[in-house]
This record gives sequence, C-alpha cells and structure tokens, in this order.
Amino acid sequence: MCGIVAYLGHREACPIILKGLHRLEYRGYDSAGVALLNGDLNVYKKKGKVSDLEAYIAEKDTHATVGMGHTRWATHGEPNDENAHPHYSTSERIAIIHNGIIENYAALKKHLQQQGHVFHSDTDTEVFVNLIEEIQKQNSCSLEEAVRLALHEVVGAYAIVVLSKDAPNQLIAARKGSPMVIGIGDGEFFIASDATPIIEYTNEVVYVNDYEIVMIRDGQLNIRTKEDVSQTPYIQKLELELDSIEKGGYPHFMLKEIFEQPRSILDSMRGRLELEASHLNMGGIRAYEQKFVNAQRIIIVACGTSWHAGLVAEYLIEDLARIPVEVEYASEFRYRNPIITERDIVIAISQSGETADTLAAIELAKSKGATIFGICNVVGSSIARATDAGAYTHAGPEIGVASTKAFTAQVTVLTLLAMIMGQKRGTLTDTKLRELMVELDTIPAKVTKALELDTEIRAIAEIFKDASNFLYLGRGYNFPVALEGALKLKEISYIHAEGYPAAEMKHGPIALIDENMPMVVIATRDSSYEKVVSNIQEVKARKGRIIAVVSEGDKVIPAMAEFVIEVPHTSEVLMPLVSVIPLQLLSYHIAVLRGCNVDQPRNLAKSVTVE
Ligand code: F6R
Repeated sequence: MCGIVAYLGHREACPIILKGLHRLEYRGYDSAGVALLNGDLNVYKKKGKVSDLEAYIAEKDTHATVGMGHTRWATHGEPNDENAHPHYSTSERIAIIHNGIIENYAALKKHLQQQGHVFHSDTDTEVFVNLIEEIQKQNSCSLEEAVRLALHEVVGAYAIVVLSKDAPNQLIAARKGSPMVIGIGDGEFFIASDATPIIEYTNEVVYVNDYEIVMIRDGQLNIRTKEDVSQTPYIQKLELELDSIEKGGYPHFMLKEIFEQPRSILDSMRGRLELEASHLNMGGIRAYEQKFVNAQRIIIVACGTSWHAGLVAEYLIEDLARIPVEVEYASEFRYRNPIITERDIVIAISQSGETADTLAAIELAKSKGATIFGICNVVGSSIARATDAGAYTHAGPEIGVASTKAFTAQVTVLTLLAMIMGQKRGTLTDTKLRELMVELDTIPAKVTKALELDTEIRAIAEIFKDASNFLYLGRGYNFPVALEGALKLKEISYIHAEGYPAAEMKHGPIALIDENMPMVVIATRDSSYEKVVSNIQEVKARKGRIIAVVSEGDKVIPAMAEFVIEVPHTSEVLMPLVSVIPLQLLSYHIAVLRGCNVDQPRNLAKSVTVE
C-alpha cells in the first residue's frame, strides 16, 4: 500500500515526483506529500489526492534537484494532513517516506518519547524517522549507518526513502516486504514503488531486494545488505511502454483495461499456444514437469479476484488433468497450520505480485518443502521472485483498482497449464486437446464480440443503478464468475452484492428475493444449463428481477428473464473468459452512473502489501 517516489539528479525534482505520484495513485490516495532538499528540507503534505497537493504547493518555492514524494493508503492513523507523509524527525533535519507497517512501533515510540522525541502524527512512520535520528545521535554515525542500525530494530514491512538536511546530495532507501525499484539515468536516479514513474526517463532499473539498503550519492549507486555487505546492483532493462500506463482516450483505466482484453488474452497465450504446430508450451514449468505430472495435490493460494481465478483453475485442473485441487484464501491458509508435503504443488496467483498474505502463504508452503509455482502479472515482483518457477500473465500494467484484464489473463494461463498437465498425464485425449486448442484460439475474437454489448449493458445499468442489493448466480465454471461479478459491483459502486452457486439459493438466499432484488444469472449453454433454467424459474416465481447472461441464440431463457445478454458460445471450460465480460461492463457502468470514482474506489488500493 502507498506509493513512494524519489529523485536525485540535474532536473527539477518536484514535477518529476508529482507526475510519479499521479502514476502511483492507484496504490493509495487518501493523502499525499513531498519533501524537497535545497539547503532547507521542506515538507509539504495534504489530505486528499495528489491534485490537492499540487494545488496546495502551487505558490510555494519548490525549486530543488533532490526530493521525494508519497501517496498514502492509511494504516496507522486516519487520513489527515498530520498523518500524511513525508514525516520529519523531531529536529526536522531528517525526513522519511514509508510504504509498509512497523509492528513494534508502540514500544519504540514509548522509548523515543522518554528520550525527548516529540510526535505530531499517529503514524508508525514518524517513529521510524525518530528512531533513525536517535540512533545517529547516540552513535555519532553517518545517516546511512543510522538507517542500517534502525532496520535491526524495526519489525514489520517497509520501503523507505530518507533525506537529511545535513547530507544535501544524497538519497538513502531500504526495503523489506514492500516493493522498490531504482531507475538509473544519465547522472540521475529515481526510486519508486514500481517502474511507472521511471519509464519515460530511463529503461535501466534495479529491483531492490529485501534487507538491502540503497545509497545514492556523488553520482554513484551503492547497495549494501542490512549486515553491511556490499552488493553488485543487477541492472535490468525495462520492457514497459509509456502508452500502456496512460488512459489512451478512455475516461477510466478500468474501461480501457476491460477493452484491452482481446489483446491481453492473446498476449498471455503468445508463444504458449502454437496452433499450427498443435503444440503447447510453457517455459516456466519445463524444469518442474515431472513434479506436476506426479503431484499428489495442487493447492492454490490467492486473494480477491486472483482467488476467483484460482476457483476456475480448480474446475480446469480437476477436469482436464485429474489432480485434486484445493483453493485457499492466502490469508486463512497462512494461519491455519495446513498439511503440506513435498509432493504438493502450490500455485500462487497474484496480479501485483506484492500481496502480503499471498507472499506469507508462499513462505509457509516453502518451509514445508512444497514446490511453488507463481502466476503474476508484474514482472520482477516479490511473488515472482519468491517462487520456484512460474509464468507471467503478460496482461500489461493494470492500473484501475478493480481487477479485470488480470483475471482473464490469469484464467488463460491456468487453462494452458491445465491443458499441458492433462496432456502430460494422459488424462486428455489428443482429440479433446486439439478441440480445446482450436477453441482457445477463438477466445480473443469472442471477447471482442462480447465487448460490443457495451451500449446494451449501459442501458441495463441505467435501470438498476439505484438498487441496494444484487445477487449473482452461476454453476460449474460460471460459479467463480458469479463471485467475480459480485465483487466487481461492490468494490466500485458500493452496492451490496453476493455471488452464489445457483443451486444454493434454495438453502437460504431465496428468502431475499422480492420484486426489488436484481439477480444476475450466468446461464450459458453447458452441462448444468437445464438446472440453471430451473433455478431461474424458482426466482421468477418469487418475482425476482432477472438479468441473464446466455449463449447466443438461446431460445428458452429470453421467455423467462427480464433482460438477456447474449454472449458468443464457447466450450464450457473456456466460458469464464467470455461470460465475465458483461459483468465487468455492468459494474463499470453502474458505478459511473452513481458518480463513483471507478479507478480509485473508497478504502481500496491496488496492491495490499499489509496483512
Ligand atoms: C479486486 C481486486 C482485489 C485483488 C486482490 C489480490 O478487483 O483487485 O481483490 O484481486 O487484492 O491482488 P493481487 O492479484 O495483486 O494479489
């Protein structure tokens, strides 16, 4: 949570930092601030969005070539000016920005107060900067040494940047558990939570590892470990394109990302589905192929939308590869002493690759000897680096807080994985495999067709925009899609919504149905179609308002449902890739019509790097 950005070089730092903060705003947007070093160490910060900060500092002297900025998602202390970052130390000679959580802050704060440090905020971060100041005073050491020693005392997660009035041309940074990347330009350096604030200046980057301290001074980048051992920076080339992180004419990132799906699905299959050669390929599993073939069980760990993709994978892998699958919320798995053996494969799914619970679940499974396979979107992310092997989804940057194209890319990669496993284990016949390959190849075109329903779906959104509750029903492969549709609606429109397996209705939720309850039923033509039709009858008999997502040409459901959304037909196994599209559009339009901030929904942030 929170976005950090810093600059040291020959240009004006403030505009670079503000632009970077706008790019990082998806990570948190309840307050923002900058610290600029130009002889003085000036901190300007404000509750609200980065644009509020911009307005606030418009008349201030922001001239400086060294500085740092922060956009916050509150953990300790409510969003207000005082709790916004950067935070000064008591002497106001040191300032810090921080992404993460310091768990032992209360004990440290008490001790520091006894030493005379004065606190102005409720944050754990202010404790961190005062700890550094105190250590420097006690040991009469350099700032770098004080930061290093402070890292031995704090418990928790952090990506920090520290500036000192006494070190006018220097940036110090460190990380543990929160992402950090350094951009290396020509006589200039950038630090950020991800590469988006950096790409227009340089494509040479270094991903900082846990427990590393970064020192930028005199045109040099030095990295040392917390134990003070020098590290050689591993410089990588960024492949991110500037276009991919801009809205490209769409009013919201979410809409752009929904419409990008034909492309992102194709990208996630590229080089993996070779239709002409009738060949499937996934570099990431090659070295672990035998492990997959002999796996006694697959455990999938993920959160939120990625967990929904994991549920689709449960159907896929059990269906096609006949390996038992368990899908776990990473946050539960990590705390419930699960039984894991060396013959288990744990698949961790994460768009950001930074979700703290998923990372912790990986560490736990690793400690028990399981093989860990990661499915991540963000290249070089913590999860991608913590796993034994993996496959990137290649969906491109997802900036809208509500996940859309990441979901379909995850499902595509998981489909390919299940097909490869089915092939290697002999549980999928060549004919069935070939049929699926041919069908998978048609999915981008079918998603394009589903996107043409946009205007129709907007009209439905107009009718239901003031509803206070929604139910989403699906069965089989469409059950996780129902959960995903409900999650999309609640997170961006703040309408209460629940997803259910359609047949569960009669075990309780049916009591909720009356003429005011909209019900989205995903009823595409598959093995449970007839059953879902019966479920629709049950709802209709109780006057529920039905919006049905059906396969093109359906003749039965239009006679029963108030609204029908026809999507292109595909194999049951691949249907989630198509049936989720109208649900993404429905939630998007309802949220826009309700005047909600679609890309930055309240209380949320894009990557959840705290427990
Ligand atoms: C929903 C959403 C969240 C994320 C969840 C996991 O639209 O974005 O539920 O899916 O926080 O995030 P990742 O996939 O980055 O681990």
